[in-house]
Amino acid sequence: MVISLKNLIIGSFLSILILIALLGYRQNIFTSTILPYDDEQTGLDNQIVIKFSHVVAENTPKGIAAEKFKNLVETKSDGRIIVQIYPNAMLYNDHNELQALKDGEIQMIAPTFSKMTDYLPNWQVLDLPFVIENEEQLERVLTGPLSDKLLDELDSINIKGLTFWSNGFKQMASSDSPIIETEDFLDKKIRIMPSNILEEQFNLLKANPVEASFDDVFNELENQQINAQENTISNIYSKNFYEMENHITLSNHGILSYAVMMNHEFWDQLNTEDQTILLDALEEMEIWQFEQAVEINNNNLQALLREEAVSIYKLNKVSRNKWKKELFPIYDYFKKNVHPTYLDELIQEINN
Ligand code: LMR
Repeated sequence: MVISLKNLIIGSFLSILILIALLGYRQNIFTSTILPYDDEQTGLDNQIVIKFSHVVAENTPKGIAAEKFKNLVETKSDGRIIVQIYPNAMLYNDHNELQALKDGEIQMIAPTFSKMTDYLPNWQVLDLPFVIENEEQLERVLTGPLSDKLLDELDSINIKGLTFWSNGFKQMASSDSPIIETEDFLDKKIRIMPSNILEEQFNLLKANPVEASFDDVFNELENQQINAQENTISNIYSKNFYEMENHITLSNHGILSYAVMMNHEFWDQLNTEDQTILLDALEEMEIWQFEQAVEINNNNLQALLREEAVSIYKLNKVSRNKWKKELFPIYDYFKKNVHPTYLDELIQEINN
């Protein structure tokens, strides 16, 4: 049978028309049918969306705390309050997340307290080394009256402080050679978060402090602009910093915790019931969060111990005391330049 070219063209044209009509029908393009009324959609009118941006990986103490918070809030509000999480600085980084929060681009962040010290210098009290010595003290301080005072200070920059989350203790990680004795600090280019106390800490140890945002650390290590940093095991592990900083000294010399905060106008516009849902969620997960931080850091340490290329050192008492001796002037520096009583208040809480 011979099919003429004309018939072939007409046939193809008709097939395409039928196909378009079928697709259009499936997508409701040509039908003007009014969709049945879905009374669940009325709920969308009073749906509240909280965009929560942070800079670390999802499998870290802050990452999983954000997830837990989301689940609790969404369950408690029957899905009326939605928490959208943006990890890994995918939306905003250390340099711009605070401004984005203030501008209402996002509603929640949880930066390390050190990153707030440019605006609230008193927060440097938590940066002081060798003051908080163990997890039990850390938990007491982060849930105690001094922490409440620090969170209240956020009001002065029009931010609502909600609570503190923990990521445990900072360790020293370095490339090329370990940092164990105080002499090992000499001329090391150590990445720090923006905090005068942290800068002073490494100046006293005769190192070279270099400020860098968290999402720049990997590049700066690669480009050898830095060759050491203080951070928690979970941050060193989850961001693969150990691939370059393969000497890790378990020094526990300082703490790393997060101030969970919200855009103030957003908070003020929430009704009491919704504010209570958020606060209840944070309270319910408080102990869980501290436990998770310990567990994740421990698990990540076990994983690092299995890495052949990574050497892990424990700071013994003698070396530790030498670090402390070098750092001794920092406490006076804080009292004279930052706050006269906060350090004493901190010590009193620890000893209670
Ligand atoms: C850092 O910059 O090293 C940390 O603050 C990152 C984080 O949020 O834990």
